[in-house]
Amino acid sequence: MILVAGGSGRLGTLLVQRLVARGMPVRVLTRSRARAAHLAGALVEIVEGDVRVAADVQRAVDSADVVVSAVHGFAGPGGVSPASVDRDGNRHLVDAAARTGATVILMSVVGAAADSPMELFRMKYAAEQYLRARGTAWTIVRSTAFLEVWIALMRETMDRAGRVMVFGRGENPINFVSVNDVAALVDRVIADPGARGQTIEIGGPENLTLTELAKAIQSAGPAVAPRHIPCAALTAMSLLLRPFWPERARQGAAALAMDTIDLRFDRSAVGARYPDQPLTPLADVLARCAR
Ligand SMILES: NC(=O)c1ccc[n+]([C@@H]2O[C@H](COP(=O)([O-])OP(=O)(O)OC[C@H]3O[C@@H](n4cnc5c(N)ncnc54)[C@H](OP(=O)(O)O)[C@@H]3O)[C@@H](O)[C@H]2O)c1
Repeated sequence: MILVAGGSGRLGTLLVQRLVARGMPVRVLTRSRARAAHLAGALVEIVEGDVRVAADVQRAVDSADVVVSAVHGFAGPGGVSPASVDRDGNRHLVDAAARTGATVILMSVVGAAADSPMELFRMKYAAEQYLRARGTAWTIVRSTAFLEVWIALMRETMDRAGRVMVFGRGENPINFVSVNDVAALVDRVIADPGARGQTIEIGGPENLTLTELAKAIQSAGPAVAPRHIPCAALTAMSLLLRPFWPERARQGAAALAMDTIDLRFDRSAVGARYPDQPLTPLADVLARCAR
């Protein structure tokens, strides 16, 4: 049985559907049964629990052969944070898996590092280090940004204001990957014993600036220039909101980092390991997400 913590999320949902299609029994850990209702089926067991609570995690991991962590605490309901979910919640998952001898597949980010300017990336790195040292079988999958998340976010701003919102100058090339391709990779990593003890990175075929992405998203409609949130506003947001609205302050800091640090990616490594791994171009993802 495979436990998917975060099975209710965007990646988790696609992964659970793939595993079930292969006839694998899956347990989904979610804080709210209602958020996983779309996954209900004969092979899917849904358990309620919070990765920040060690006892919940131990109960969910019980009798699982594989534990997939597809959780994050960057944003979302319940006052989550990268420290409480990506670092400490993942530690709970790793500890519980180590106690029962389960294999851990940890979702992380390309660029995870102890000195990253992004808190999420530092907390993912802490979880990676903990997993590597804990002595249970493991694979780490690091991904670049999910295209579908950014397409949805930009379309939302366009629907609200008639123009796509771009954080910062929007001139920094960033790698984006389709979440479907990441789900396909995680699915095959679960089934591949040769992937144990490996850190596998996946990114898409294109490095795009946020301005290029905004233009591609707007291309079907009238030619309206994107609206840029100036870097000064992002700096103020990241500093001033920290005590009152930490989630929004985190988003400001992350937007600033995305506008400046090197987030390009060379996709050749995953292709060398899995030559038939799909890496879908933006135009095809946009066509699939057509409204
Ligand atoms: N989005 C990206 O661009 C991106 C890029 C690289 C890597 N990743 C990684 O890929 C994975 C999936 O990302 P996603 O964008 O698909 O996520 P998502 O759709 O935002 O879903 C987040 C998931 O985390 C779960 N979660 C959050 N806090 C939790 C808690 N305290 N206890 C239990 N579950 C909790 C949520 O479950 P409930 O709300 O149902 O409890 C939900 O299923 C994450 O590990 C993420 O860091 C994402």
